[in-house]
Amino acid sequence: MFRPSRRRALLTGLLLLAILLATGCASHAPQDFTNPVGDVADKENTLFQVVFWIAVAVFVLVEGLLIFVIIRFRRRGRENAVPAQVHGNTRLEVAWTIAPALVLAVIAVPTVATIFDINADPSGNVLEVTVTGHQWWWEFNYAQSGVVTANELHIPMGRPVHLSLESADVIHSFWIPKLAGKQDVVPGRTNTLTIQSDTAGVFMGQCVEFCGLSHANMRIVAVAQPEGEFQQWLSQEQLPGVTPAGGDALDGQKIFLSSACLGCHTIGGTIAAGKVGPNLTHFASRLRFAGSMFDNTPENVAAWLRDPPGRKPGSKMPNLNLTQDQITKLVAFLEALK
Ligand code: CUA
Repeated sequence: MFRPSRRRALLTGLLLLAILLATGCASHAPQDFTNPVGDVADKENTLFQVVFWIAVAVFVLVEGLLIFVIIRFRRRGRENAVPAQVHGNTRLEVAWTIAPALVLAVIAVPTVATIFDINADPSGNVLEVTVTGHQWWWEFNYAQSGVVTANELHIPMGRPVHLSLESADVIHSFWIPKLAGKQDVVPGRTNTLTIQSDTAGVFMGQCVEFCGLSHANMRIVAVAQPEGEFQQWLSQEQLPGVTPAGGDALDGQKIFLSSACLGCHTIGGTIAAGKVGPNLTHFASRLRFAGSMFDNTPENVAAWLRDPPGRKPGSKMPNLNLTQDQITKLVAFLEALK
């Protein structure tokens, strides 16, 4: 039916399409939103499923008709088959005006209900957290407890967490797919978002508004814990940073407190009170660092201190040209900040 060259082109096209589709598959998909773990994400996912399957039905109907017409009235041989030309059919026109209006009306009911539902202020034992987006990391402020941390959001299981989202610079967007849909983070205004997790676990999130060079490296780790564990974490975070007893770690603290570090970072209980970069009071307790880009290991922290912009494009933390000795001591100090 097809000439060999055309058949080859068709096969190549199909293969490319299959490859493109396959890139959407992942056995390990930390940001997959179809298995929500809490009330808010669950309601949003339910609405998504309803709208999605209605859209699938419309797609199949419209594309099916299109393909039918293309095949039925294709050019055959030399004859130029022109289908019967019809202009103005009142019944048809009324039908295809009413049908989409009905579809939209049906979709509007659960949509409006869900929008009002998830935007209502949560009630009960609510935890308030202020989230501030920075290029390129997230700050979490538990004002009720005086705890400030970065990139790792701890939440108690089964309790609504009411987030106030603010930006220190440009527009970001906050998204932890398993917990809730996206919410923009806009300079000069406070948006709110309620999240909740009913299971313990670590959930990955990501900034989803292009915000500069390291937009893709602006990640979030959410840690949902049973209430007791969460309270334990909170009390630990309330403590001032530890002062090492001696050795490299103590030398590292001296370097930290006598160099540019303290201009940007806070370590509770010391003179370091900078607000530009992440609060490092309990740096060693975090799983990841630098916008949750790297695992928090001594090797990774050393590589980071050697050349931050080289490790993370656009990093606001400059290369301080530290010596190997300074780096070793700073790493010992930072990894002592439990
Ligand atoms: Cu922040 Cu993209």
